[in-house]
Amino acid sequence: MQVYSEQLSELERVEPLPIRRIHHVELYVGNAKQASYFYRRAFGFELIGFAGPETGVRETASYVLRQNKVTLVVTAPVFSDHPATEWLAKHGDGVRDVAFEVEDAEFCYRKALERGARGVKEPTVLEDEHGKVIIAAIATYGDVIHSFIQRESYAGIFLPPYKPTPKDELAQPVGFKHIDHVVGNVGWNQMNEFVAFYNRVFGFQRFVSFDDKDISTEYSALRSTVVANENKWIKFPINEPAEGRRRSQIEEFILYNNGPGVQHIALECENIVHTVRQLKANGVEFLATPTTYYDMLEARVGKIDEDVDSLRELNILVDRDDKGYMLQIFTKPVQDRPTLFYELIQRKGAESFGKGNFKALFEAIEREQALRGNL
Ligand code: FE2
Repeated sequence: MQVYSEQLSELERVEPLPIRRIHHVELYVGNAKQASYFYRRAFGFELIGFAGPETGVRETASYVLRQNKVTLVVTAPVFSDHPATEWLAKHGDGVRDVAFEVEDAEFCYRKALERGARGVKEPTVLEDEHGKVIIAAIATYGDVIHSFIQRESYAGIFLPPYKPTPKDELAQPVGFKHIDHVVGNVGWNQMNEFVAFYNRVFGFQRFVSFDDKDISTEYSALRSTVVANENKWIKFPINEPAEGRRRSQIEEFILYNNGPGVQHIALECENIVHTVRQLKANGVEFLATPTTYYDMLEARVGKIDEDVDSLRELNILVDRDDKGYMLQIFTKPVQDRPTLFYELIQRKGAESFGKGNFKALFEAIEREQALRGNL
């Protein structure tokens, strides 16, 4: 692994766009009715709202799923000539929009365009009986967009024209708290371009605590830089493939996704041991960790609160930085294409992204890649 961070020039001090938080993540899927069932039954998201033909939305069906501060929307086109149909033919199920809540959507949109972003949706007012919101959107890597959502004093369940759904009796929440980070995979030598994009357009800075200096060379066929907003609530690692002994996992993603896209969404958990136990019982599949990983665990990370046998049993990884430690685990891809997956993370002080686990993680991903005949 090259020491990439030192090859970057210092990022510019750019006045940050006034972004409050990640409002929601929207996925385009081939069948939103079935995808929403998966997120409810397997991941414990509650269905809270719907917009589709039955509620006067002609061309798409969208289900709003919520757990604590994590809101996902799964959307499927119901007509072949809708742009989402083309998007899905190209990428398969995946993330279309990482939407931000902002104070002033018009201002963010104009400012972003002035700073070189490509506009996807002009500021538009959406209104229903619960109030109004203003929405605009710009493009980022691949065919992913960032919406700017200004809620004013909107009092509805989600956004106009979504309608609330009956209380979800199926979903059993598993302890997700909020989105910790969203990772983008970009093509060969595009990482710096997108790091510069988030710096120039949003005023994001390189996240200092992440360093990739001492990742083992044998399995590290990727480079990664994390950009974050001022208060570090929004963290976007950007990965690019690198020449390695074997085909980079990022290259495999780019192949199946037909270009750059969101590789994983990391969800912070209240108690990762409980969460993973529940998810496994619900049939969620995780990457396996070699059992030898746990033999050296305490020597590597020191004393931890969790019982190592439980971590071993559940395949949960642990890493430490100078501020504390963190626990993490990765699901297998959640659709047939080996593209989008989820990470579960519990931070106990640590601000890092588990670089001590990269080797174990890469080995696990490579085993899956080999099964697909792509290594
Ligand atoms: Fe991650």
